[in-house]
Amino acid sequence: MLIQRPSDILPSEITPRSLFVDRRRFMRDAGLLLAAGAIGGVLPSAEAAVGAASKLAPLASSPFSTSEEKTSYKSVTTYNNFYEFGTDKGDPAENAGRMATRPWTVRVDGLAGKPRTFDIDELLRLAPLEERIYRMRCVEGWSMVIPWVGFPLASLLKQVDPLGSAKYVEFVTHYDAKVMSRLPVLDWPYTEGLRLDEALHPLTLLSVGLYGELLPNQNGAPVRLVVPWKYGFKSAKSIVAIRLSDKQPATAWNKAAKHEYGFYSNVNPQVDHPRWSQATERRIGEFRKRPTLMFNGYAEQVASLYQGMDLRANF
Ligand code: MTE
Repeated sequence: MLIQRPSDILPSEITPRSLFVDRRRFMRDAGLLLAAGAIGGVLPSAEAAVGAASKLAPLASSPFSTSEEKTSYKSVTTYNNFYEFGTDKGDPAENAGRMATRPWTVRVDGLAGKPRTFDIDELLRLAPLEERIYRMRCVEGWSMVIPWVGFPLASLLKQVDPLGSAKYVEFVTHYDAKVMSRLPVLDWPYTEGLRLDEALHPLTLLSVGLYGELLPNQNGAPVRLVVPWKYGFKSAKSIVAIRLSDKQPATAWNKAAKHEYGFYSNVNPQVDHPRWSQATERRIGEFRKRPTLMFNGYAEQVASLYQGMDLRANF
């Protein structure tokens, strides 16, 4: 990734700590409610959960979850990439509190029979919320294990009736120059894309929470993508629009450095980044490096999507 220091954030723009702490408390309470009444790894919709006993019920693992040790909540929420809020790992936790996450809508349109705008509250009720403990491998060579809360992106896409001509999905994220970086680090807004079959794959998650809480802003509140077999930058944060298309969409990192960040960006230890090896990774919280797994360990589920493709050419 490109490393540039942010210089556009005025100390006066940073949320006072008292407000930040109140907000965190609200989110924790909401998270407890969200998690209450979990059955067999599937949470009830957020609306159904609100009003239920506010005890944190233990969550059973989804069949898609890894049993590997989870990365600490602290690391997951303070070691982030969210360049709209600065390029240092601690910047998003410091600065993303300035982003208002309500009201919030997500427009889903393009090659769809029933294009629609979803309010965030509608999205939270759209499908049963599940906990999915996924490995996350950043292209920079580090990784985490994160307990996400969300539902398959396919549940949302089915609502809009994708047309037969739709082959790709573009994700457009929130950009507000008043509270985000004005540095041309990337061509804002941050955009990403998937092939439609990748987007419909059951592992592809629309996440609204982690560790049983609503998503912290720095992790992409109120709704983000999680595509666990691809490098982390494919998992666009704070999504405002999803567009079905017959053309491969341009993506923010590919536009910035097309020889370094391909459209597919599947985790692949055999295809190095032009500037570093991708054979190993450092799990945050661990000292020794570990081997990186093909498709980040999800080969059994996703390798068939790429049968017959040259994964070196389509990196
Ligand atoms: N989404 C937006 N809008 N802006 C970003 O800078 N960074 C990406 C991805 N999604 C990014 C983004 C990168 S490089 C990674 S590794 C993951 O978010 C990091 O997610 P996390 O901070 O929740 O671990």
